[in-house]
Amino acid sequence: MAPGPMVAIADILKGGHTGQTVELRGWIHRTRTMGGKAFVVLRDATGILQVTLAKDAVSPEAFAAAEKALIESSAIVKGTIVADKRAPGGYEVRASDFHVVHFAEKFPIQEDLSEEFLLDIRHLWVRSQRMTEIFRIRDSAFKAVHEYFRGQGFWEVHPPMITPAGSEGGSTLFELDYFGRKAYLTQSWQLYAEALVLAMEKIYYIGPSFRAEKSRTTRHLTEYWHAEMEQAWVGMDEVIKHAEGVISHACQVVAEDHPGDVVALGRTPEFLKAVRPPFEHMTYDDALKTLKSKGMDLEWGKDLRTLEERALTEGKTKPVVVTHYPRVSQAFYKARDPKHPDLVLGFDVIAGDGVGEMVGGSERETDLETIKKSLLEQGADPKSYDWYLDSRRYGSVQHAGFGMGMERLIQWICKLEHIRDAVPFPRTPARFSP
Ligand code: 4AD
Ligand code: MG
Repeated sequence: MAPGPMVAIADILKGGHTGQTVELRGWIHRTRTMGGKAFVVLRDATGILQVTLAKDAVSPEAFAAAEKALIESSAIVKGTIVADKRAPGGYEVRASDFHVVHFAEKFPIQEDLSEEFLLDIRHLWVRSQRMTEIFRIRDSAFKAVHEYFRGQGFWEVHPPMITPAGSEGGSTLFELDYFGRKAYLTQSWQLYAEALVLAMEKIYYIGPSFRAEKSRTTRHLTEYWHAEMEQAWVGMDEVIKHAEGVISHACQVVAEDHPGDVVALGRTPEFLKAVRPPFEHMTYDDALKTLKSKGMDLEWGKDLRTLEERALTEGKTKPVVVTHYPRVSQAFYKARDPKHPDLVLGFDVIAGDGVGEMVGGSERETDLETIKKSLLEQGADPKSYDWYLDSRRYGSVQHAGFGMGMERLIQWICKLEHIRDAVPFPRTPARFSP
């Protein structure tokens, strides 16, 4: 087959090639033959498009190949792009040639399969329309986070993934045998960020974090992608502005890049475009009052659970920022509130639709003795953190930062019932395969 210009389906659907003769590569999504015509819906990374083969317009071999090929066979098509209201997406290719690269075996995914089976064959399910819609949005969300922080003058700096100690509590640490010594998979770049921020002042990174979280919920993974930032010379309020800014920018970019995918997944581009700062802010104490008015009594000091987060975001179209949590049960590095020593200058950004905490952050404690005391209170050995404590020995300055779960962000943007669909190959307590 003589090569023509190779085009992407998304460009055809935007009307960019109407009337032109082009070449397409992809996989067969659906196929049917009717009255001397074969209709093949072809999929590439950007979308799906109908290819029509008229028996008298292609060679007998090409027509036979189109008739014979089962779904997920790979193919190269040459043809002319025409606008046609009857075709899905409004365009189709009138084929002049059709070449099957590989005839697929009978594809195991048919209709009405159980969630569990689809997870077993995730390596094939990733080709589905639904998954590819989510992947395109995920790509835009990652792009947006990089764009936002770079645009604000942050340096991208990278921490290690193999670490000698945790920062977010011992119960969710994954332990590994490091040549006979105990090491842990990172839960957060926290300790490294606080060392690096005294070198680079404004830093961010996106990388994997690991939590040995046994809870089977619709918003926990054991491996997730963590977007984290840390900034010197600022307090909690300044980094809350960045949390609002980065979430908003991600929503704008996704709405702009992939409006069709957004609609297919059950959101609208208008909903995302309206996600602009400032978000609603409330203190933890105010949150308890709001909950009380809804008939929910939460004991002071207890963390907000899923049902409370749901109640606080009920009917809201933008995430909500909750600040000033009680010190009890908060990580050792969070700064005390100088006005209320039993509170920390910490915040969460809480999203609706059952996603809950999307961002967790705080101003950091700068005083060496206070941090040591907090470590001891939490049953940790300050000796294991001695290198980290040097950040409070040599030029300690005010600093603050946060971490955002990328899958939580994507789950919320795409309105996914379960966080596992926000990532191609989810890791949960029940499975790490395929
Ligand atoms: O609230 P977390 O535990 O905070 C930290 O790790 C801080 N050291 C971050 C920082 O200040 N640099 O986690 C931050 C975010 C949560 O708000 C949530 O979005 C996400 O990480 N997250 C998870 N996402 C998916 N599955 C899990 N098991 C998660 N645990 C936390
Ligand atoms: Mg948290």
